[in-house]
Formats: sequence, structure tokens, C-alpha cells
Amino acid sequence: MTYKVGRIYRVPCARVVSPGGRIEWLPVHGPEHSDPEIGATTRHIHIDTRFMRGSTAAATLTGAGTTHTAVFTEGGWWEFTGIYQRLRRCHRTRTGIDLVHTGRLPTKYYEEWLPRMVGKRCRGRRCPHRGVEMQECPGGLLLCPLHNLVADAATETIIGAYSGEGKVCRDLLITPPEKEEK
Ligand code: FES
Repeated sequence: MTYKVGRIYRVPCARVVSPGGRIEWLPVHGPEHSDPEIGATTRHIHIDTRFMRGSTAAATLTGAGTTHTAVFTEGGWWEFTGIYQRLRRCHRTRTGIDLVHTGRLPTKYYEEWLPRMVGKRCRGRRCPHRGVEMQECPGGLLLCPLHNLVADAATETIIGAYSGEGKVCRDLLITPPEKEEK
């Protein structure tokens, strides 16, 4: 779904409670899951930064509008108490997580996993990993906001992963051969 900045939408929000009893509502997207294949074994759900604002956003957002953390649904510092639909204003069109540059992910696992995903289809612009909607990016690309797989929009095929600095996987991970030959 394409959201328009400034408009209000009903979106899923995780209700979390701090050790001191403070309640926060964090907009989320995608399924609750863990990713042992890439070294993320704790169950979690991803924060949807499109609907973040205020002090919580300041604490969790990167400069690129992505986030460096997730809502941990078990064993987290803050207690997760459920997902509820809430009205939230859209503040940006980009959402996602910066896995690489914040050191949140053991890169070794990701490097082993990525080649297994390259070549898979993302029919209907749904990521083959967890089925979430991929986002359109400049250059005819699609980007998965959960774990940064990148697809060619025309063929709906995974070609690599986002490196975190405005380019597709050219430095860290894998380069699609047909693109490199040009
Ligand atoms: S859901 Fe994991 S990369 Fe798309």
C-alpha cells in the first residue's frame, strides 16, 4: 500500500510497557517472527517508521528514516502486550531497518543466506522471505523493508540486498552477474 505523507491511517501498533510502567504504542508491519537463518533468533516484529513521530522516533530512527531496532515480543526490555489498530499520521514514505550499519545483524549469517534468496520470485511485489509488500525504489528496483532484499521490479526477481548507503549490495553482499557485465 502506498501511504501519503500527512494523511491519517488505521495501522497496527504494538503496545509495550516500560519497566517503570510507561506505555508506548509503536507502529509495526509484517508478521511476528524470528529469523534464525540470518542470526536473529528472538521473536520480534518490525517497526513501521512511516508512522513514527516524537521522542520515540528520535530514539529509534536513523538519519535515512529507517530504524535500528524492532519490537521484541518475548524477552524484551519492554514488555510486549499485543497488537492493536490505531490511527496514525504518515510522516514519511520510506520505512525499513538498517541491519548492516548498526551492527544488529551477524553479517556471516546474512552473507550465507543471501545467495539462497537471489533468483527467487517476488510475485505481486511480495517478498519471498516473509511475504511482505516490497517498496518501489529509484532505478526500477523493489526493496523489502524487513531484511533488505532487493528485486528487479520488471522481472519481480530478487537480485541482491540493500547495503544501507543508497546502493544495492555492491560492497557488502552480492552483485547480480547480469548487472555487473553491463
Ligand atoms: S521479509 Fe525478510 S527480506 Fe523480505
